[in-house]
Amino acid sequence: MADVLTDRLPLFPFRSPDDDPFTPVTAADLRRLDGPVSRVRLPTGGWTWLVTRHADVKQMLRSDAFSADMTRPGFPLLRAAPPQVTRNRQGGFIRMDGSEHLRLRRMLTAEFMIRNIRRIEPLIAGVVDDALGALQQAGPPADLIAGFALPVPSLVICHLLGVPYADHAFFQERSSIMLDQSADPLLVRDAAAGLRTYLGTLIEAKRAAGDPGDDLLGRLISERVRTGELEVGELVGMALLLLIAGHETTANMIGLSVLLLLQRPQVWQRLRDGDDETVDGIVEELLRYLTIVRTGLPRLAVRDVEIGGRLIRAGEPATALLSLANRDDDVFDDGDAFDPYRQAHQHLAFGFGVHQCIGQPLARAELRIALSALARRLPGLRVAADPAQLPTRDMSIVYGLAELPVTW
Ligand code: HEM
Repeated sequence: MADVLTDRLPLFPFRSPDDDPFTPVTAADLRRLDGPVSRVRLPTGGWTWLVTRHADVKQMLRSDAFSADMTRPGFPLLRAAPPQVTRNRQGGFIRMDGSEHLRLRRMLTAEFMIRNIRRIEPLIAGVVDDALGALQQAGPPADLIAGFALPVPSLVICHLLGVPYADHAFFQERSSIMLDQSADPLLVRDAAAGLRTYLGTLIEAKRAAGDPGDDLLGRLISERVRTGELEVGELVGMALLLLIAGHETTANMIGLSVLLLLQRPQVWQRLRDGDDETVDGIVEELLRYLTIVRTGLPRLAVRDVEIGGRLIRAGEPATALLSLANRDDDVFDDGDAFDPYRQAHQHLAFGFGVHQCIGQPLARAELRIALSALARRLPGLRVAADPAQLPTRDMSIVYGLAELPVTW
């Protein structure tokens, strides 16, 4: 755009105020926004329209005027890819549009339906129980991220997919690099290639076995790969997406939630004593208030479209900022306040529209089971550090705490 002096635009992604990891943007950055749909500068040198109101974010995410395909020129990237690298999107349907996206997503819908997740709740409870047992046995102090928040969702997704948890150090390190928007692009390329090779070898071994196993990857091999509906490379991409999305997200939600709850003893007690419905209400408010996908959802306009009174032209980038939409006072009274009694279910923490999170029933079940078990088993849990000094993952697509020292 000829009239844009990109250098003068506020730099995105935003950071939390130094002493408050729960607030997604500083008052100073907020003041620099020129309305609810305004331009911000990207670290890659370009800019994007930042869409911040709840109604506008919903309109944007359900509109077919926007593409999620990051290989399109002009897509709002936070991190540059080295020119010699062609991004391998195969199977990664989160970055696909239309029928290409639907075909792959539909192969997973039944697996993540609420009734199927209900069936694995005993497994989740067992994993949580074991992790708490190990934490108690090792004794305080402990890092709640390494000792609880990460292993629980990681063990669950490994079990569901049929990926050996023994390899978790390998894939956790690489998936964290892939999500880190400040990581060196060459490192990102190597991390992605390493994970693809790892999953490819695992899938080939399952395929070579007469019975590929009764886990998600095994079922997809028997029901889709062997019938010719799904290529092995596509299955590798789907597995990669599920492995990353399946443990990083819930893990960061658990860590941040615990930090917040320990600063609110009454809510902590309510979590400990409440029934499933009470705990579900607290989880929904945590999802809204913390909105861990802080860097927003990037898209590219494929035709002219008006959002929030602004004309976004074909070829222009736009980013739906879920964290601000989830604090929109038009939808949530006093949206900046954490209120475990409110009806938070309209939140957009799982996105909206065709790409809305497929794993949300699983994430909700993990959060309900993990947080209530933690409050019951360790009622005297407390943070063993200054909360304002805790290291945060500001440049990751999934925001969270790198460490959470606790004692009890
Ligand atoms: C609290 C935890 C979670 C949060 C906040 C979260 C958030 C999101 C968001 C915002 C999107 C939309 C992305 C977009 O539109 O560009 C998404 C998509 C997705 N999520 Fe989650 N997620 C969570 C847990 C999970 C889990 C546990 C899984 C899987 C096992 C999962 C798998 C996926 C997949 C596969 C997509 C892509 C869906 C599509 O493109 O059709 N997520 N998630």
